[in-house]
Amino acid sequence: MCSNVNLEIDRYNYKFSTTYGTYNNDKAINFNKLREDTGFITFDPGLKNTGITKSSISFIDGRKGILLYRGYPIEQVIDKCSFLETSYLILNGELPDSIDIDNFSKKIKKFNFLDEEILSISNKIPKECHPMGILSSLINLLTIFNIKNEDKYLYLLAKMPILASLAYRIKRNLTPPCTDQKSYYTSNLLKMLFSEKNREHKPNYIIIDALDKLLILHADHEQNCSTTTVRLLGSSHTNLYSSVSAGINALWGKRHGGANQEVIEMLENILKSGGNLKKWINKAKNKKDPFRLMGFGHRIYKNFDPRAQIAKKIAEDLIKKLNISDPILDLAKNLEKYALSDSYFKEKKLYPNIDFYSGIVYQAIGIPKNMFTVMFALGRLPGWMAHWKEIRNNNDPIGRPRQIYIGNKKRNIIKCG
Ligand code: SDX
Repeated sequence: MCSNVNLEIDRYNYKFSTTYGTYNNDKAINFNKLREDTGFITFDPGLKNTGITKSSISFIDGRKGILLYRGYPIEQVIDKCSFLETSYLILNGELPDSIDIDNFSKKIKKFNFLDEEILSISNKIPKECHPMGILSSLINLLTIFNIKNEDKYLYLLAKMPILASLAYRIKRNLTPPCTDQKSYYTSNLLKMLFSEKNREHKPNYIIIDALDKLLILHADHEQNCSTTTVRLLGSSHTNLYSSVSAGINALWGKRHGGANQEVIEMLENILKSGGNLKKWINKAKNKKDPFRLMGFGHRIYKNFDPRAQIAKKIAEDLIKKLNISDPILDLAKNLEKYALSDSYFKEKKLYPNIDFYSGIVYQAIGIPKNMFTVMFALGRLPGWMAHWKEIRNNNDPIGRPRQIYIGNKKRNIIKCG
């Protein structure tokens, strides 16, 4: 560990202190006085080399394919915890005991209803809207409903699945979602999605378990684009609901959470066009071709994404237990094998990420493609809220980066005409 680094500019030596995280691969140079001392700023488009905060919520080792939630490896969390227990852990920092989780679940159920006013507003939303646009709009509305701001985190954990189901049902001209006070969180979600007017949906435990695990896999992931968006709004003291609404919109992008929908559309295209893997892999490698292998590559994982491996196993088990054959899953596995044997993908360290297999599970559950990113958002909710809570508790400064201006020099308006 080195406690200082020297930077020489025009033969002048500047000394900067360093910061280390829990693991030594998280190490940083404290540049908070860089401009003041040297007149220079850092230039780092995409913030690929920039730490914007200190956080204790999740940790990724991209070289070893490690993901920890509050110190617990994702492989253990997925095996030993429910999504509700994982949400408690991510939000509070420790695993709940039976009393904690019982109280947590009871408090969430207190808010487990669809507000009449939101329902009447939702009736005006055009059916053509993408469910992510519907969800982010409705979440923004919550600012006017939970005025007392009581239990805002549990309130949002209760309301988001209801509003996600409402977004799904609006698109299908279905009756509003009916919540079920007796069911477990994820079972209630499936009932709200798939129950019909006079027939309550009875999700089987195989599907409840598979979806619960997928929600866990998405629960948090350090400073990804949407989480950093939520933190940025938190730093300006925007309320929790509007900050999460912004996070939903950031996640919607196809380079980020929108990729899970793109993956299935890509696989269906490949299948429809005859399944010629070589042709599509060459397209993905061709710089002149905008086509990218969706669900491949990651900013941090330069080895496998542990979540993708777990999602692949969930998909294989689900398909087997439901006794369905899924040509898309077979194609995905062949495409992964083909890509990982290709030097382009090996050299650029491009591996399947979480989005490569998650859509296959959603599809097998009966969730339509345009709802895949909504499911991602439901999983990421505890992470977004924990980061919003952390930045407010840390009282971080408002996020306001600098820039390198390359526009016109100062000039005067000469009145034309
Ligand atoms: C998520 O940050 C997170 O943690 C995100 C996430 C989370 O849980 O929140 O993990 C969820 O968003 C996963 C990623 C989902 N997106 C996709 O699957 C879209 C396809 N992937 C790419 O768009 C890309 O890999 C990114 C956006 C995921 C990462 O982009 P980076 O880190 O900015 O890397 P890059 O674009 O600079 O790529 C490096 C090289 C480039 O080639 P060169 O310019 O060096 O020659 O790899 C190439 C890229 O062209 N490359 C790909 C590729 N991804 C990168 N080539 C073909 N297919 C791909 N998928």
